[in-house]
Amino acid sequence: MSDPADVYATCDLGPALAAIGEARLSLSVYPAPTPPDRETILAGAAGARGLITTLRDPIDEALLEALSPTLEVVAQYAVGLDNVDVEAARRLGIKVVNTPDVLTKATAEFALFALGALARRLRASEALVRSGGWWGWHPSLPFLGREIAGMTVAVVGLGRIGRAFAARCAALDVELLLYSRTEDPAFTVGLQRQLDGLAEMGVQGPRRARFVSLDEALARADAVSLHVPLTPATRHLIDGAALAKMKPGALLVNTARGPVVDEAALAAALQSGHLGGAALDVFSTEPLPMSSPLLAPALEDKVRLFHHFGSGTEETRLSTDPDRGMAGRCVSGLLAALRS
Ligand code: DGY
Repeated sequence: MSDPADVYATCDLGPALAAIGEARLSLSVYPAPTPPDRETILAGAAGARGLITTLRDPIDEALLEALSPTLEVVAQYAVGLDNVDVEAARRLGIKVVNTPDVLTKATAEFALFALGALARRLRASEALVRSGGWWGWHPSLPFLGREIAGMTVAVVGLGRIGRAFAARCAALDVELLLYSRTEDPAFTVGLQRQLDGLAEMGVQGPRRARFVSLDEALARADAVSLHVPLTPATRHLIDGAALAKMKPGALLVNTARGPVVDEAALAAALQSGHLGGAALDVFSTEPLPMSSPLLAPALEDKVRLFHHFGSGTEETRLSTDPDRGMAGRCVSGLLAALRS
């Protein structure tokens, strides 16, 4: 049997992994694009000091305990840690590092584009052109979209990504409703200044940013974008009751975590016509099962579905620069933890 590697990675992060060899540590990488199963992780990481994981890998207490004789750090290639039992790791003296900051801009702009694709019916428009069904320009036929300018947009969750999303929305001539567990008045004031500056420049009308309760955000917004982490308190935050509170015809965007939304209740709210549409990048089960009610043909025009792609840019996923890419940040976090 060969010696255990110093570091085991459950997937290939690309060129950033070279830094591990440069630090004179041996590395073993699970080679397939699909996730390794639990037994494979246990066998691959046995004897390792470092374990590189993604959000596909269930890093639970039993697995951490089994690896704990040698394991010093779990380096998660994601900002979200909901697949890692962080408390068990802490108890076992295993450090956990992740990749915050570097995916903020990519995910925030993706949420905005997902909202735009939904509201302006970009998929239906492209399908029309590709199918040859486009017979010419007409004021209203075969369909129209909805303009984001003039909407009231609610931002639910004001961590890094929620804030970046709100700041990007500010230039779209919208009213902004902000909700998070705790209020940060300085952020609201800063955003209002940004809105006032754009109005002074004459590029859009006077607009307001206000911190509100979740109920008010849901009741008043034409579009709601979710940016909360997955915690016991946010699981099914958007359930049937929350969806019923949303304004008729409102749009929902979820680039946070799938279980924040009750997908069956969402599909029902879309089927009934209460909600105008949803753009989803994350799902309770990933990949999205083909039996999901969200895939119902009747909902195709109202639902945009993406493959957990919010952070999916070449720079954000692969850059070796720890201040630019998840790969660079994950590996530098791992090496720093192993050095300390
Ligand atoms: C994260 O980092 O948590 C993202 O969901 C990855 O895309």
